[in-house]
Amino acid sequence: MGGESKILMGAGPSNCCEKVLDAMSNPILGHLHPENLMIMDEIKEGIKYLFQTQNPATMCISGSGHAGMEAAMCNLLEDGDVVLMGVTGLWGNRAGDIAQRYGADVHYVRARCGYALSFEDIREAFQTYNPKVFFIAQGDSSTGVLQSFISDIGDLCRRFNCLLVVDIVASLGSAEFLMDEWKVDVAYTGSQKVLCGPAGITPISFNQRALNKIKARQSKVKSYYFDITLLGQFWGCFGTSRIYHHTVSSTLLYGLREAIAIVCQQGLKNMIRRHIECSYRLQKGIENMGMEMFVPEPNHRMSSINVIKIPNGVDWRKVSQYAMNKYFLEIAGGLGPTVDQVFRIGLLGENATEEKVDLVLTILREAIQNTSGITLNERSK
Ligand code: GLV
Repeated sequence: MGGESKILMGAGPSNCCEKVLDAMSNPILGHLHPENLMIMDEIKEGIKYLFQTQNPATMCISGSGHAGMEAAMCNLLEDGDVVLMGVTGLWGNRAGDIAQRYGADVHYVRARCGYALSFEDIREAFQTYNPKVFFIAQGDSSTGVLQSFISDIGDLCRRFNCLLVVDIVASLGSAEFLMDEWKVDVAYTGSQKVLCGPAGITPISFNQRALNKIKARQSKVKSYYFDITLLGQFWGCFGTSRIYHHTVSSTLLYGLREAIAIVCQQGLKNMIRRHIECSYRLQKGIENMGMEMFVPEPNHRMSSINVIKIPNGVDWRKVSQYAMNKYFLEIAGGLGPTVDQVFRIGLLGENATEEKVDLVLTILREAIQNTSGITLNERSK
């Protein structure tokens, strides 16, 4: 029972291609088998390319993107540490929730919903709170907001002796990200979004500044599973012999290695360009139908997760069900601050093609017209 295969054009996961699915049917390996360690080494090199980093402490967490967020927070923070969360949707609040559970003193700088943060807002919040850690999502999948000038935030963090954590779960591969050049101290991404790998294995990287903070901790990291100093020894990041930390899934490693290889074959720049061009085509189609994007400023729109205001009189659940029942196509609704207000259309990895854009536009139009009786403009036909 799994049924008809679905076209996953919600906010993720995306579809895995045949090569990735085939790779995941390889024989199971033990976590310390030499072949498994070799796959882990190849994945590390792939992540370094994707993140544009030379950090030796580059590895994967066995868990979804949330586990990357949790690993970043619990390794960097101790009781009472002041942390500032940049909020452009759901994810800054989620990071705050996690940081609070690890004992941090959490503060927020919030953008107006649908807008990116301004550099001024961030700088003022730094002056007010003097944080030890600043968090921002490059792309917030709940609102579709893309936060730019991360390199300026990197400089600001250095001036305030603060560590910069950037969530690139939904943006990596669809927008430029230069970890080292932009002075990002910790970054993690999702395997199941633009990379089109299996969910449950999260690439993450820590630079030397982040490792120094971890080394200087007065207290043990409050999670064994996410302790990067231990996990990094399993992943062979520190030049020491490999230790058993946990039983990583060789199946997920096979899948992720193949997914990364496919991106490397295309080249990061080509991949990013394809996502931007497809998103532009989608946005044009949406506007031609008389609908509106949720993020008013085009330069602050993610190209991977496209967020569209629901027209008056349309019930997104009915539209989404119609698309799934008739075409096995997933269109997502809102999340967090955008619940019941938007559709979210994912152009993630292999679904970022002109054909898929045209398909989703055609089905969206039909679904809206058939479930609400509203006739949309015809210009996109
Ligand atoms: C999950 O990441 C989502 O945006 O729905």
